[in-house]
Amino acid sequence: MQSGFVFCTAGKFMINLFQHLRDETVEAPLVQLLESVINASKEIAFRVRQGALAGVLGSTQDENIQGETQKHLDVISNQLLKDLLLACPHVRAIASEEEDTVVAGNTTGEFIIAFDPLDGSSNIDINGQIGTIFSIYRAQQNIAANDEAQFHQQGTQQACAGYVLYGPSTLLVITTGKGTHAFTLDATQGTFLLTAKNIQIPVDTKEFAINMSNQRFWSENMRGYINDLVLGESGQRGKNFNMRWNAAMVGDVHRVISRGGIFLYPSDNRNPKQPAKLRLLYEANPMALLIENAGGKAWNEHQRILDIQPQALHERVAVILGSENEVETCLKYIGAKQ
Ligand code: F6P
Repeated sequence: MQSGFVFCTAGKFMINLFQHLRDETVEAPLVQLLESVINASKEIAFRVRQGALAGVLGSTQDENIQGETQKHLDVISNQLLKDLLLACPHVRAIASEEEDTVVAGNTTGEFIIAFDPLDGSSNIDINGQIGTIFSIYRAQQNIAANDEAQFHQQGTQQACAGYVLYGPSTLLVITTGKGTHAFTLDATQGTFLLTAKNIQIPVDTKEFAINMSNQRFWSENMRGYINDLVLGESGQRGKNFNMRWNAAMVGDVHRVISRGGIFLYPSDNRNPKQPAKLRLLYEANPMALLIENAGGKAWNEHQRILDIQPQALHERVAVILGSENEVETCLKYIGAKQ
């Protein structure tokens, strides 16, 4: 374990991640588990930075269980996380976007972890934002390590959630339920340093993020809401909105956490077998915990995301999250009972 305070390259005295976790009195097994996530993410960050030089770009011939083509970097990231997490004695089970079923770890491990090893895969080959999203729960004593029921816990039960964003700098945004904090990787020392403490998302916003090309598949109410955002000052909202879309949830949510906004991936009627796109366990739930800990709001179209009772490992949910007042306005438009 690293010592608590370091001088960063800018010559400032800063708190590193592990000192911060000690300050939050996070228990040692969870800190050790996080160390595995961090070590894997530093390896992933290195390969992302090297790009074509590391020979990691492009697609494999395979599809994951979601029917999505796997990129080489998806597979590499999944393997790195899996190897390091399974070597950690505190991990009882793993669920990954890239694994069909639960992977059993140490039968006496205290925690289980769900992750999307590399969110925003379509950005890999264009040098765009991508990231690792993770969600950690306490293992349930009476359930076998390889039983998917380990993961049928509501988002409110998460012991820790976060993402590592591989952008121009590598950032870790994390919560253990005591606020949402951001750490920047000082690549010269291999250390994540605290760069934003207790982030607060502004309650109002003039920025929205949604894949507009899907609008013909949304409900009429959702179309009405977005239409009024687009009408700006000339419509009933009476103010202009700007649109931003990274096509990587991790990048879009990071923008919302950094300066406010509303991010939406609504349900749609394209494919009856897949009424929504984003996955509850390793996308919606961890992001919802981070957003709520930063004073924002995260719902599907009917209820708070963190209250949803998971039914399946790879289940999908609609997501509406971000600045509190704007999320509430959206929910009113679509008739959700708050
Ligand atoms: O779930 C993966 C993901 O890449 C998200 O990160 C992102 O928000 C979404 O899919 C983008 O998908 P599409 O381009 O189909 O809207």
